[in-house]
Amino acid sequence: MSELPSVHVAVLLDEVLDWTAARTGGLIVDGTFGGGGHARALARIVGETGLVIGIDRDPAAIELGQARSAGLPIRLIRGNYCDLPEVLEELGLETVDGIVLDLGLSSDQLADSERGFSFSGTGPLDLRFDPTRGEPTWRLVNRLGEKNLADLIYAYGEERLSRRIARAIVEQRQKSEIRTAAELADLIRRSVPRQRHERIDPATRTFQALRIASNEELKSLDVALRRLPDCLKPGGRLAIISFHSLEDRRVKEAFRNDPRCEALTKKPVRPTDEEIERNPRARSAKLRVAARA
Ligand SMILES: C[S@@+](CC[C@H](N)C(=O)[O-])C[C@H]1O[C@@H](n2cnc3c(N)ncnc32)[C@H](O)[C@@H]1O
Repeated sequence: MSELPSVHVAVLLDEVLDWTAARTGGLIVDGTFGGGGHARALARIVGETGLVIGIDRDPAAIELGQARSAGLPIRLIRGNYCDLPEVLEELGLETVDGIVLDLGLSSDQLADSERGFSFSGTGPLDLRFDPTRGEPTWRLVNRLGEKNLADLIYAYGEERLSRRIARAIVEQRQKSEIRTAAELADLIRRSVPRQRHERIDPATRTFQALRIASNEELKSLDVALRRLPDCLKPGGRLAIISFHSLEDRRVKEAFRNDPRCEALTKKPVRPTDEEIERNPRARSAKLRVAARA
């Protein structure tokens, strides 16, 4: 079996395997395939008589995933997880035993310096998972008016200093266009003071906001929360890992209010200290699971 290395380490892996209750012969969807860590572990459990359908918007994740999944019962599909009903219909399937979503970006995307996800990226600033659709992020940053930019950074980044950052972006644009991730990150660092208690880079929240906007991430999640419960067999599990409160709040509300869902996790499942030490990216992860009523 060939497994090319992925730098992404699957978060809350044991917990996802437990809570999805995957078993031999099961049919599971991994709607955010990424580096394939969750999908491969699930595939080993469902075995030859089962199937894992791996979906990702990122063509690079799907291409690498083909080689990394060789010999395992995994079927890869490039697309948006919110289109799962159509994906299943094309495969001649109606419902599945479990669905896993592990939201946000993967460390593979972050590590690819040409894609501009990382603060030091010198390629064009582009935070799209699927670079063939929509508007590149550098164009959005150079196009939006100051107020819209500030509102976006505040709403999707929960950044208190959004106005100051938007002002700095607009002033810089008057001199020259912002093109790279490194240029934008430096500009933000120069325009806002680093808070003494803060451990994260001052550019973190603005990049999160731009990434969410570039991919319409909250829209995909909202659509998925409406559509995905119908793709589950009775008792089937929907497991969602989120990394910030804008996502977690939506998942919590949907699981609480949707009569098709029975929330199995009253509080979100959090990584252990040991996992966070091994994989600091896990520190803000929250897993919520519902069963199809
Ligand atoms: C955190 S990573 C998933 C990592 C994966 N669970 C693993 O173990 O390697 C998130 C992945 O979801 C993809 N993604 C984000 N939003 C998506 C969407 N709406 N539909 C499909 N894929 C999406 C991203 O391109 C990224 O590869």
